[in-house]
Amino acid sequence: MTGTNNKLADLVREVTELCQPDRIHWCEGSDDEYRLMLRMMIHAGTAIHLNPEKRPHSIFVRSDPADVARVEDSTYICSKRKEDAGPTNNWADPQEMKANLRQLFSGSMRGRTMYVIPYSMGPTGSPIAKIGVEMTDSPYVVANMHIMTRVGTEVLEVLGRDGDFVTGLHSVGAPLDGKMADAPWPCNAEHKYICHFPDTREIWSFGSGYGGNALLGKKCHALRIASVQARDEGWMAEHMLVLKITSPEGEVKYLTGAFPSACGKTNLAMLIPTIAGWKVETVGDDIAWMKFGPDGRLYAINPEAGFFGVAPGTSMKSNLNAILTASKHSIFTNCAITTEGDVWWEGMTDEEPPELTDWLRRPWDPKCGRVAAHPNARFTTPARQCPVIAPEWEDPNGVPIDAILFGGRRGSVVPLVTEAFDWQHGTFLGAITSSETTAAAAGKVGQLRRDPMAMLPFCGYHMGDYFAHWLRIGVSANPAKLPKIYYVNWFRKDANGKFLWPGFGDNSRVLKWICERTRGTAAAIDTPIGRLPGPGSLDLSGIELAPGALDELLRVDRDDWMAEVPLIRDHFQRFGDRLPAALKSEVDRLEERLKNAEG
Ligand code: GTP
Ligand code: SPV
Ligand code: MN
Repeated sequence: MTGTNNKLADLVREVTELCQPDRIHWCEGSDDEYRLMLRMMIHAGTAIHLNPEKRPHSIFVRSDPADVARVEDSTYICSKRKEDAGPTNNWADPQEMKANLRQLFSGSMRGRTMYVIPYSMGPTGSPIAKIGVEMTDSPYVVANMHIMTRVGTEVLEVLGRDGDFVTGLHSVGAPLDGKMADAPWPCNAEHKYICHFPDTREIWSFGSGYGGNALLGKKCHALRIASVQARDEGWMAEHMLVLKITSPEGEVKYLTGAFPSACGKTNLAMLIPTIAGWKVETVGDDIAWMKFGPDGRLYAINPEAGFFGVAPGTSMKSNLNAILTASKHSIFTNCAITTEGDVWWEGMTDEEPPELTDWLRRPWDPKCGRVAAHPNARFTTPARQCPVIAPEWEDPNGVPIDAILFGGRRGSVVPLVTEAFDWQHGTFLGAITSSETTAAAAGKVGQLRRDPMAMLPFCGYHMGDYFAHWLRIGVSANPAKLPKIYYVNWFRKDANGKFLWPGFGDNSRVLKWICERTRGTAAAIDTPIGRLPGPGSLDLSGIELAPGALDELLRVDRDDWMAEVPLIRDHFQRFGDRLPAALKSEVDRLEERLKNAEG
């Protein structure tokens, strides 16, 4: 298999010399290969088979307790110039970081097999797809990449002799050296580095085997590196779900939505509407690449092939389609395990099982006072198994986008839904997106932070330039053909800390209003922050909100928003002279509208 691509052959030789694996395995992407990875993980004590009667062809993995989520503090953008990484990214000089990494990677695969994974983000061979090669010493990564991307020989064929690709080097950073028995989840407790070299389109990831740190096609390639390519080439690489929605009259619309990690993309992408006659189908649940089509509209594709979804909170009631997707051929990480050999997590069932083994391998019962699954426990599952996967989900031309949603977790201030006045105002709403932090990244949970366009941890360059790129996209297009932009918040709470909005399937009510707005039918009222649903325009048939809940959900509090203005200015201050003037003027205009509003 070696020698098919010149750059790849040289690269594998170089990396082999550096990392000194015992063996090299070129991934062909077959079912046999996938099964081999599972067997090896089971043999090594990394994984166990789930009960085939409960969950066929599925395994359960528990990671090291110190390796459970993305590590943003150890994630670097190593652009040539520091100012190109911007104020929101860790930066390191590419040469210095490479020297540091070479030492860490030196001999790091001793006693292990190095897997060479040629993968395609997007359907293999399609004009929008991009190829990467991940070299890793983790069979867990190989198995997950099999589900999350298109892997194997056919990718090498597309690559040919001279094709280019994004280079990914990954090591768990735990050489075996022939002596000790392997850890069930090898990783490096002291050193973790997730490094991106945007100028040379390289990713070097060391020390972690978990999720976005290790499955390099996902956040590292499809967002951090791709966002740089997108800026250079005039398209968009975004942390967005993509969904198809069909009205009772059969009118089809496509929506994308950028919500920060663990803020509801997977759930929205496959929701079951609670309003009669409406249908939602899934195109993607985490990443969208958007490009202008020949007709001047913005088209989105899902570059992934699977879902790496948050397990806790996923139930037959909240997200039946995710439960059905992950009913077989799936990998479960850091869940709890039942006495029958199936997985369980918080929120999966109304009643908690009387006994479990928790994600830390300890006996668990409902009274023990601990959670059974890690809050960032996840399922890896093929998108094609999703019962509502849209037939066009692999269309290389993508789907034409009618509306873009931004949103986050805000317990107060931010209403259920706001329509932007235009693209520039929508870009402003995206740029000020704020959300409480979640367990998807290591660190404190529940801290309010700005997460512009849900891309704070994923933008591969200066965030001020990224805003400018969004504005440029708007200016370059025919305004009538641009998607309309919305800001949603499912997470507003009442005085007792209870969610005011039922969320999940009932979010279809907000999607319906959005669809009708894109058609120009539903009523809206202008407020200082944007357009909100006019009286009676939100379909609430068949649900019973608490008294006063709707008013509170749609309330735009002038004082609260006045108090936001200086916070927005502080946030924008960070971007210095790279903050586009248009966004600065949007804050001024917001303040002006608030001042002019009746108190
Ligand atoms: P990443 O995969 O980390 O990018 O996350 P995501 O944006 O896909 O988030 P996901 O849909 O997996 O949801 C994360 C958590 O939020 C889960 O525990 C869900 O149950 C919960 N959640 C999703 N939608 C809603 C909603 O409408 N209301 C409420 N209250 N919770 C929700
Ligand atoms: C996220 O954190 O936004 C995820 C999970 O989608 S991970 O792949 O770990 O980044
Ligand atoms: Mn994500």
